[in-house]
Amino acid sequence: MIEPPAPSSLPAPSSPVLSDSPVGGSLDRLEFDRYVDPLVEVLTNDATETPFTIGVFGAWGSGKSSLIKMIDQRLAADHGEAFVRVHFNPWIHRKEPTMLLPLLHTVQDTLAEDGRGRFAAAVKRIGSLITTLSMDVLLRKATEGAVTIDRVEQLSERYAERRGQVESEIRKLRSTLQRQADAIAAKGARLVIFVDDLDRCEPAEIVDVLESLKLFLDLRNVFIVVAIAKEIVDRGVAARYREFGFSAEQVVEIGDEYLDKIIQLPVYLLPLDAVAVGRFLDALDLPAPIAAQTELLRRVVTPNPRRIKRVLNICAVTHAISRRHDRLEDLRFDVLVRLVVLRVQSPALHAAATKRPDLLVALEAAYEGSLNIERTEGFVNRFGAQDAQSMQAAVRRFHDSQDHLRNLFEGAGFAEVAGDLRLYLTMLGG
Ligand SMILES: Nc1ncnc2c1ncn2[C@@H]1O[C@H](COP(=O)(O)OP(=O)(O)O)[C@@H](O)[C@H]1O
Ligand SMILES: [Mg+2]
Repeated sequence: MIEPPAPSSLPAPSSPVLSDSPVGGSLDRLEFDRYVDPLVEVLTNDATETPFTIGVFGAWGSGKSSLIKMIDQRLAADHGEAFVRVHFNPWIHRKEPTMLLPLLHTVQDTLAEDGRGRFAAAVKRIGSLITTLSMDVLLRKATEGAVTIDRVEQLSERYAERRGQVESEIRKLRSTLQRQADAIAAKGARLVIFVDDLDRCEPAEIVDVLESLKLFLDLRNVFIVVAIAKEIVDRGVAARYREFGFSAEQVVEIGDEYLDKIIQLPVYLLPLDAVAVGRFLDALDLPAPIAAQTELLRRVVTPNPRRIKRVLNICAVTHAISRRHDRLEDLRFDVLVRLVVLRVQSPALHAAATKRPDLLVALEAAYEGSLNIERTEGFVNRFGAQDAQSMQAAVRRFHDSQDHLRNLFEGAGFAEVAGDLRLYLTMLGG
């Protein structure tokens, strides 16, 4: 059995790690042109009526920011003069009392950057609007509850009253902004506003961002492209309308209704299929020891680009550490890869295994069919009478709830390295 190293003796890792930044078109490894092409076509087609909002939907790490970057790059390269491309990052402004002012500022700054100075008048007009709004005590109210959510209105007279108060304010602001958008269009450009990183905002702020967007940018000659994870919007709705005590189901429905009002064209980033995962792994130019595990990785990683990169990075660093340490040289890298995947994709099971590494051996046997999870007897034989019942319970829990782990456990070889499992897990922070 190999002794765990003292933490201080671990050398610094030297493997290059993969960056988690959103990628542009030249680094596309997931054939995102299939999304970019039709979306750019919609944006550039003269027949597309504005206002028009595209929602890029996808889970955390699925590639939303990358897709937005690719659309932006394509517009810049092929249709540079025809669009004023505004990048609004609500997260940066999360401390502001309302998202409206930073949004207007961002639009103004972008217009001011036009190389030919085409939008000087609009820059000036929006500037004075910002000044007025900054002093307006009604501002906070004006952006509140502005998206008409019928359900909410019906439920609360109070809410409807508040809306009534602010509607005339809103109309004034909108017509001012509409004039600016039209003036910009008269100079040959339309606004396209990219909104990303909503998922980094506090739940209560998310609704504020969406409302500011809807209210003030639901205008002729304006496009919006917003990246959204639906769960995040639901969390925002729940937080914003907490006082109404909606159930979880109602929150999901209201979230849908909310987005229906805001988004004309939803685009869903599909999970990667096995072929795409394989191509992604092949395209990443991995260091040799990890590349040697590609076949295994292809079978066991979840099809999410960020998760995959995370697994690869932990593998690379752990491998580098183990190679530079005498006592760790003999570790089996395939076992390590499986444990890294487990840690990233099934943290609860990883935590349980850290407490009792034998659980991995038992699960392997269960997935392979050599241990009947319904019968305590087999557990007694393998793990002794004292531990049998709790082990059986743990195995059943994970076996039933995580069938997607079958590939990870079948043929894993945990039994062969049972004596060293604790060391492997220690390397991964267990
Ligand atoms: N088309 C792509 N080609 C290559 N890598 C990608 C692609 N899309 C996303 N990635 C990578 O996946 C990770 C998550 O992407 P990101 O666009 O930030 O996702 P999201 O915004 O949905 O959380 C990043 O490391 C990014 O570089
Ligand atoms: Mg993102």
